Amino acid sequence: MARERVIREPKADGAVSAEDAKKAATAKPARPPVPGAGGSVLVRSSPEEDDRVAKDLRPKRFAEYIGQSTVVDPLGIAVRAATKRGEPLDHVLFHGPPGLGKTTLAHIIAREMEAHVTHTSGPALERPADVVGLLSNLKKGDVLFIDEIHRLSHAVEEYLYSAMEDFRVDFVTGSGAFAKTISLPLEKFTLIGSTTRAGMLTAPLRERFGLTYHLEFYTDDELTLVVKRSAGILGVKVGPDAAAEIARRSRGTPRIANRLLRRVRDYAEVSGDEDAGGRATTGQDAAVSKDMAAEALRLEGVDELGLDRLDRMYLQTLAVNYQGGPAGVEALAASLNEEQQTLVDVVEPFLLKIGFIVRTSAGRRCTQPGMQHAGAAPSGKAAKATQQARLV
Ligand code: ADE
Repeated sequence: MARERVIREPKADGAVSAEDAKKAATAKPARPPVPGAGGSVLVRSSPEEDDRVAKDLRPKRFAEYIGQSTVVDPLGIAVRAATKRGEPLDHVLFHGPPGLGKTTLAHIIAREMEAHVTHTSGPALERPADVVGLLSNLKKGDVLFIDEIHRLSHAVEEYLYSAMEDFRVDFVTGSGAFAKTISLPLEKFTLIGSTTRAGMLTAPLRERFGLTYHLEFYTDDELTLVVKRSAGILGVKVGPDAAAEIARRSRGTPRIANRLLRRVRDYAEVSGDEDAGGRATTGQDAAVSKDMAAEALRLEGVDELGLDRLDRMYLQTLAVNYQGGPAGVEALAASLNEEQQTLVDVVEPFLLKIGFIVRTSAGRRCTQPGMQHAGAAPSGKAAKATQQARLV
């Protein structure tokens, strides 16, 4: 039976009392489960329910997973070995840009280990009582998935140290002369942490993960396979050239590929029966053509390289308003009226990867190809930034 709990009534000083822990551990279910949800909602679901509820495009098993072989291969071995020994898997940390499959892999691990997964996030665990409540509810072999683990408060993080290492949490009851430390034993569980900012994790937390993996952007070929697989699940016929076109414009990110595929499907469903070349496109047997996919993506504001409106505005601001930089991310965020975190986590990683920008100690700089894409005149500064990008 899936359960979901919202933890309330933390103590003002952030300490955990025995009462807090008990309250948190026995809180009643509030709403139906939403596997994969973040925010303050804590979800506990079984693999069977994931099947029923999350009828989405994400792979459910390692065997279905495309790409990331440097992660999936060793992880698969670790999972099989732990299963064979009848032990929980070591704690796992995934880091890398958003949309590359960190959450998907966490759920695959749980499924492969036939374990229950409790899904939460760093910002949702406001007080130590929140995390102690979750931990004390875990059964042997369960998976606790903490998304955005770099956003845990220091107080909460400290409770995780002994939980991860010794499978116990210590908390104090009473005060003054009556203060007593109680050690609460926990079942052996697996913590899976996910972050877009590995650098923001403290060393003591980072060191407690036995398995640490960085997720890389996907190649166009891998993304083409992802698009074809998803098209099969959605029941939409996509020609090989169209699949490759969607993949090419997906910024190395399966989440984007699947979103663009859905938009292409929408476009194909409502547009006429002919593509730009006059060929049938939406008849029973017609597959979406490359031209139709390209037109749908153009309408979505996705350009030839897969950059969207925010990517282009970022590039334009750096290239034109700041004459190629250097510009601090704070200044760029203010100019774009955007969250700094969105720029750092969502926009910059792909622009860095394709060599359109570089990060220097003085700030962000636009390279020559970046200037060109933004329609700005070439400059000596940009040429220097291009050299720097080549050195990375
Ligand atoms: N859908 C999203 N990511 C995927 C992946 N890595 N493999 C297969 N399908 C996916």
